[in-house]
Amino acid sequence: MNDETISPSLISAILNARKMVALTGAGISSESGIPTFREAQTGLWATYDPQELATPQAFEEHPRTVLLWYQWRKSLIAKSEPNPGHLALASLEKIALQKGQKFTLITQNVDNLHQQAGSETVIELHGNIFRSKCAQCQRQPAIELPEVTAESELPRCPFCGGLYRPDVVWFGESLPGEALQRAFEKSNHCDLFLSIGTSAVVQPAASLPLMAHENGATLVEINPNPTHLTPKANYALQNKAGQVLPMIVNRIRDHLS
Ligand code: OAD
Repeated sequence: MNDETISPSLISAILNARKMVALTGAGISSESGIPTFREAQTGLWATYDPQELATPQAFEEHPRTVLLWYQWRKSLIAKSEPNPGHLALASLEKIALQKGQKFTLITQNVDNLHQQAGSETVIELHGNIFRSKCAQCQRQPAIELPEVTAESELPRCPFCGGLYRPDVVWFGESLPGEALQRAFEKSNHCDLFLSIGTSAVVQPAASLPLMAHENGATLVEINPNPTHLTPKANYALQNKAGQVLPMIVNRIRDHLS
């Protein structure tokens, strides 16, 4: 991919935006070695049935299996590093703030890589795999929870005795209200929306780019594969986020230097 695929009009749209929103999905973390969900063969759901592992019912029926699976995913993520796509988004946020532009990053990912890359404002729509909470009273543990093994006692909340679970959104669960409200508010009022590395099929996150676009925002999609957003996007960059985003940031920096 070369620099030419990033049109000058896209760069000026970013430079002139007053309020920018970036929505990311598993695709931005795939270059950090973390599997996406829906890609055939390589996606997580190609190997595991989400209904078996990522639902309140699954946790109810076999909590240890669910906890061990999340522990495995956490260990995979802990070995990963933010990739150039994450780092470029953190730079874009800094440049925007220095220019007096608003910049909000909304992520569906639970891997904490945006924060590790230095992004300051991250709205986590689906929670964070490194956080736990009590399945009953929602309190977060005050201490680091012990590792779960095939035989270990499952960690419980000292207040209500409920089992601790990952602080992530499971299928059939509602999203954290405050995060969702902020995401809708920012998406409703932005003038440039970047949809990055998401198949845009899981609601309510999937409605954010369309809502922004319907409200007049310039819609930019960065995804090597087409999605239902692609035909509506003002700019569809069908390449990897780890390649496109650093090029965009470099072009912005060239303009500003
Ligand atoms: P998906 O696996 O559905 O989609 C990942 C998208 O990333 C696909 O469209 C890929 O084409 C694209 N992609 C792959 N590599 C990429 C790269 N290097 N650069 C840019 N794009 C790339 O993952 P999500 O859209 O994030 O929900 O899935 C949304 C939600 O569904 C997840 O948050 C999860 C899942 O169920 C919960 O866990 C609640």
